Amino acid sequence: MKKLILASNNAKKLKELKAILSDMDVEILSQREAGCNFEVEETGTTFAENAYLKAKAVFDTTGESTVADDSGLMVDALNGEPGVYSARYAPGGHDASDKEKYMYLLSKLEGVTDRRAKFVSSICCLLPDGTEIRTEGECRGQILTEPHGEGGFGYDPLFLYEPLNKTFAEVTEEEKNQISHRARACEKMLEIMKGLHE
Ligand code: IMP
Repeated sequence: MKKLILASNNAKKLKELKAILSDMDVEILSQREAGCNFEVEETGTTFAENAYLKAKAVFDTTGESTVADDSGLMVDALNGEPGVYSARYAPGGHDASDKEKYMYLLSKLEGVTDRRAKFVSSICCLLPDGTEIRTEGECRGQILTEPHGEGGFGYDPLFLYEPLNKTFAEVTEEEKNQISHRARACEKMLEIMKGLHE
């Protein structure tokens, strides 16, 4: 493999994926850098379906090895919401800012004492020889009652990672890329890739 295309237009997600996959001996490009100036509609009902839709659209356009991540936050007390709707979970939908989204989540959790939640990342990797790799990673935590920290993106300021007693917006980029749902899903993908060449 010479090139790996990341099927995403989310700059923060791309930065994380590039860092997590940086040990791979390949040129890593975003879909835009590979000429895919489109946004794939996430019509699936699961993370895995949406990851596949994104990877497939970019793979079909470029013919190059492609990786997509579909991810989100699942809150126990909200029966797994916002889940696959994490990116559009606020009255403004996709146009709502990260802050509007997490403030909306806080409003939904007002008075709720069970704050358990998990981030989930589903990875789909499509290779030119027809190989499909699908993995999933999770990271459990607690939703705070107010935001803490400036780093990360999305719901990070609300997500307390208990082993470090910090939110994902307070940990360093290096720390997040070792412990996150995305890091875990990518790790599993890399394991499977290694096995392909043995
Ligand atoms: P999608 O995978 O592009 O559908 O969007 C995932 C959405 O889930 C993001 O827009 C964030 O709101 C949320 N999300 C996914 N991963 C993370 C993360 O690592 N930190 C914070 N929020 C995340």
